[in-house]
Amino acid sequence: MPQRMKVAAVLKSSSIGAQIDVRGWVRTKRESKQGFAFVEINDGSSMANLQVVVDQSVAGYEQLLKQLTTGSSVRVIGELKASPGKGQAVEVHARELEIYGTADAEKYPLQKKGHSFEFLREIAHLRPRTNTFGAIARVRNALCAAIHEFFQSRGFVYVHTPIVTTSDCEGAGQMFQVTTLDLAKLAQKETAIDYAHDFFGKRASLTVSGQLEAETFACAVGDCYTFGPTFRAENSNTARHLSEFWMVEPEMPFYDLDDNMQLAEDFIRTILKAVLERCADDMKFFAERIDKTVLDTLENIVSHDFLRLSYSEAIGLLEASGESFEYPVKWGLDLQSEHERYLTEKKFKQPVILYDYPRAIKPFYMRCNDDGRTVRAMDVLVPRAGEIVGGSQREERLDVLLARMRECHLNPDDYWWYADLRRYGTVPHAGFGLGLERVLLLLTGMANIRDVIPYPRTPKHAEF
Ligand code: 4AD
Ligand code: MG
Repeated sequence: MPQRMKVAAVLKSSSIGAQIDVRGWVRTKRESKQGFAFVEINDGSSMANLQVVVDQSVAGYEQLLKQLTTGSSVRVIGELKASPGKGQAVEVHARELEIYGTADAEKYPLQKKGHSFEFLREIAHLRPRTNTFGAIARVRNALCAAIHEFFQSRGFVYVHTPIVTTSDCEGAGQMFQVTTLDLAKLAQKETAIDYAHDFFGKRASLTVSGQLEAETFACAVGDCYTFGPTFRAENSNTARHLSEFWMVEPEMPFYDLDDNMQLAEDFIRTILKAVLERCADDMKFFAERIDKTVLDTLENIVSHDFLRLSYSEAIGLLEASGESFEYPVKWGLDLQSEHERYLTEKKFKQPVILYDYPRAIKPFYMRCNDDGRTVRAMDVLVPRAGEIVGGSQREERLDVLLARMRECHLNPDDYWWYADLRRYGTVPHAGFGLGLERVLLLLTGMANIRDVIPYPRTPKHAEF
């Protein structure tokens, strides 16, 4: 029996003369007048295709050749040979060829190369078959593996925090409601909705962050992290916002803000380095085809310490920059993407960690500074992707926390279990959230976040 092999393994194989069995999808076919054809096969295991030589010795050659169009699926059994041609070390000479499924050349949408990303978003079920989206899928996979390895090697416990929740972690009210109530029926009634009759007996939503629940585990099993889908019902139609995205959230007891910043920096560097090493071919593709600066940017990030700057210092620099920004810069206002870009791309040309933000623009759980106007928040800003991490030291003092909840118009009764952590054995602790897709923008050089998640969910868009 010939050995079943994936294309990536065949391309690296030195077993010249071996009989192998390869399966995949046809990318291109070139027929020669001398009665043979070159068929390029890809199975997603690598960027590169496998060249298969098919000639008249293969049973049903004439008929098969007609069916071997782009997108058709095949099984090839044949001999691995050193390739005399340019561009590949090995090729397979087919002995048998079987077509699993044809793909009508008149209809298959991925005929030509160079479709726009906008068009490919409309056929998100087929775009993983392109070079770009295959590479993104592999890089995303390697990134996730590196994230787990980073935390596992440091003894962090992976905690699964719930997707359905009844508390609003960020306190911003941008949550998708989860209900089994009959909305059509309710719309006809004039009375207020009674959530006691809803599935969970109270108003429930999809989580905006697993942080609050992660904190309960940090204060029990120690260093931990949660990593899962996160939902935000904000009407943001930017190239950096998704309604459903993946977030990694470590939470560490006995950490202060400095410890937190150090961990975030080590974490980002380590995972970027791992992907650069493991996905060298795919990264080369991004540098050649998507963004010429991507490898330099990454090398620079990986090999330098991040700059640390207080929010107040950053505001001072922005005010003194002489730039004409579209949005105003003033102490107390949040930074806009153009301000982040000025700092990371123009002024410093490297990642910047901003800390000690105005308390009025940050959530209730961040630790209050003694100055009465800032909190121990931190954001990691990087060139191009902007904010990739948001985090803070947490407020561990019960009285301060309760006062902050009221200040943020939250009802402390709704967060009774969260406050309990401060009632029973409270400890200083800190954590952060890293947006997976933002890191992928940085890694791949892709311009739109909708292209680095398999099936993007954005306002008015949940096809597939
Ligand atoms: O800054 P955020 O909102 O922080 C939190 O949710 C904290 N609870 C995290 C924590 O401390 N455990 O979100 C964290 C990160 C952002 O820095 C950004 O990278 C990403 O999540 N993010 C988004 N990514 C894509 N689309 C969106 N709409 C995003 N909102 C946040
Ligand atoms: Mg943030």
